[in-house]
Amino acid sequence: MSIGKSMGSPTGAAFALGGASNASTSGASNASSGAAAASAAGVGGARHWLVAILALVAFMLLAGCYRQQMAAQPKYDPLEPSDFFADGMSARPRVAGTVARGELVGNDFLNTGKIGAGDGDGLPFPATAAVLARGRERFDIYCSECHGRLGNGDGMIPSRGYRRPPSYHTPLLRRAATGHFFDVITNGFGAMPSYGTMIPRDDRWAIIGYIRALQLSQNATITDLSAEEQTKLTAGGTQ
Ligand code: HEC
Repeated sequence: MSIGKSMGSPTGAAFALGGASNASTSGASNASSGAAAASAAGVGGARHWLVAILALVAFMLLAGCYRQQMAAQPKYDPLEPSDFFADGMSARPRVAGTVARGELVGNDFLNTGKIGAGDGDGLPFPATAAVLARGRERFDIYCSECHGRLGNGDGMIPSRGYRRPPSYHTPLLRRAATGHFFDVITNGFGAMPSYGTMIPRDDRWAIIGYIRALQLSQNATITDLSAEEQTKLTAGGTQ
């Protein structure tokens, strides 16, 4: 064997040693078989390693190809047009009457603002300070641009020509049930667009709670205060 013959050199011996230890782990050699045999087994082991490494490289290349194919697969991006469907849109509308998981809307007061056939009044959950703070924040974001910060209808948008909304402080809207407000926000009202898809249900109620606070703030009298608070106020507003 030509490879075995070269084993006379010190480097060859070192190689043979490495090979022998490799081979003995695989059980293909025994300790008494001499330097030449051990070196042959060593080269055989090296071949195995080479094949294994080549196989690994081939596998990685192949895996790389698959990954690229998956990344570049034919697909539509959101809102991308398509000439496949008659309406020119790639996204399909939801089948009528289907409800996505987590989107089931109950028909109770919380979800509709109705009690029986008519508008319910009050809030479906307690109007805590946190709820009112949330309502104020949402109102300022979604409503004040038209209705004004105080709800008297003088927001920026009507000042530029959009239809002016009514004040929340008219007797009519002060008497209106909260269920009516819920309906207006959810479905829109006349020139006002609907906010049902933009403002989650509980935020709609929080906004309504805050509108009630606004209504009170613009129409409160001193007799709405407790005797203690009245005394404080008339005494000059000291704490
Ligand atoms: C783009 C402007 C605009 C925004 C934003 C807007 N509204 Fe209105 N809103 C209007 C207009 C205009 C009307 C009067 C519509 C009409 O009479 O045709 C109105 C009317 C109303 C009414 C009175 C309904 C009635 O019975 O007369 C309520 C209550 C109301 N909006 C609540 C809200 C709340 C709450 C928000 C925020 C979630 C909101 N609006 C956001 C423009 C807006």
